[in-house]
Amino acid sequence: MPIKILMVCLGNICRSPLAQGILASKLPKDKFLVDSAGTGAWHVGHSPDERSITVAKKNQINISEQRGRQFSTSDFDTFDYIYVMDSNNYSDVLDLAKNQDQKDKVQMILNDLFPNENVDVPDPYFGLPNGFEIVYNMLDEVCDVISEKLIQKHQ
Ligand code: 4NP
Repeated sequence: MPIKILMVCLGNICRSPLAQGILASKLPKDKFLVDSAGTGAWHVGHSPDERSITVAKKNQINISEQRGRQFSTSDFDTFDYIYVMDSNNYSDVLDLAKNQDQKDKVQMILNDLFPNENVDVPDPYFGLPNGFEIVYNMLDEVCDVISEKLIQKHQ
């Protein structure tokens, strides 16, 4: 059984598809499975935002096959680790947790770079065009740390 990791944002079209693609690219596929979901339902079934597809492609990562889906309570059973992009995602996901065990699976993703600081990955959807590059670089940096930790822990 692979170790399962879920990336969560609001729409599941900008940040978490990038986080999924980036982390998956740093982990051996036979041991780890990475997925993503949104707390909202607006983009269920949709491809990632073109701007996320483009910045990923520039870095040799293909996220264009991903399709949006909404986070569901069953994800607490399916996944071993749940990384959220910002503090709104954090409270939305924690509100759905049934017990402490489920709550313990949920982490603010940038806490692996800035422990206990609860720094948000900014939502680039309505922002400047270079917001996607900034988000890509943040996620790339933190996924280096996360992938090393996961590989160490589960080798
Ligand atoms: P994401 O960005 O949470 O990084 O996927 C968003 C994309 C779309 C919307 C919100 C956030 N939206 O409201 O449609």
